[in-house]
Amino acid sequence: MGKNTNRRRTTMLSWSVMKESRALWTINAVPRTAVYGESLRNFSGTEFRRWDPSRSKLGAAIMRTKDDPALLLPEAGSTVLYLGAGHGTSISHLHDHLCGIDNQQRGRLVAVDLAPRCLRELTHLAKNRPGLVPVLGDARKHAAWGVLLPRKINWLFQDVAQAGQVDIFIAACRRFLNKGGVGLLSLKAASERWTGEGESALFDKVESTLESSGFVVDERIELTGYEDNHVLFAVRMME
Ligand SMILES: C[S@@+](CC[C@H](N)C(=O)[O-])C[C@H]1O[C@@H](n2cnc3c(N)ncnc32)[C@H](O)[C@@H]1O
Repeated sequence: MGKNTNRRRTTMLSWSVMKESRALWTINAVPRTAVYGESLRNFSGTEFRRWDPSRSKLGAAIMRTKDDPALLLPEAGSTVLYLGAGHGTSISHLHDHLCGIDNQQRGRLVAVDLAPRCLRELTHLAKNRPGLVPVLGDARKHAAWGVLLPRKINWLFQDVAQAGQVDIFIAACRRFLNKGGVGLLSLKAASERWTGEGESALFDKVESTLESSGFVVDERIELTGYEDNHVLFAVRMME
């Protein structure tokens, strides 16, 4: 899907996301403003922000996938759900792609986190980023915020780094994701109460749990090097 622009040896993964061999950029939806100290650079008169994959599991997965990285992105202008929004690093780049300046793409990014401190930062970010909807809430308690997503969606990302994260992901996908929709689960081995035989056995077990719960696992992406002891499962809802 990506369009090659060989002159710079870059690939456009979407209208906004540009991949170089070792770097990732998004067109800045809030020109001249960095979010977390990242560099800003003009390419052919358009300002991009550097997306640091060592601070973003979505960014790391885009760099590490062996498949087409564009498949990890939601459709620009769609509505998506992000559970475990954190301080907004990944969220800001996702917003660049999904919404763009003044939400010209008409996207909607519902970003849930249970930490009030994260919510303060996300709320600050949302002031200049229409389409970003920060929610102070628990990923497990759909009743409290599910009303924000009256229709099923095609893309859901989860990075809550807490015990039971696989069950939380399965429940959220069943409630919010369309059949065929893409779910991305960032899994931190250390967050699971696991008494089995090491990390790779844990990831195998998670993969078979996902498969027996009605998902096709398209890829298990190792984030090592950017986020050690993490993998990202890219799945599609089948049932
Ligand atoms: C690793 S951080 C997320 C980083 C973020 N995804 C990024 O790439 O920029 C995990 C976040 O999940 C949040 N979290 C943990 N359990 C949660 C839950 N049950 N519901 C919502 N958020 C949760 C934490 O407050 C924390 O901000």
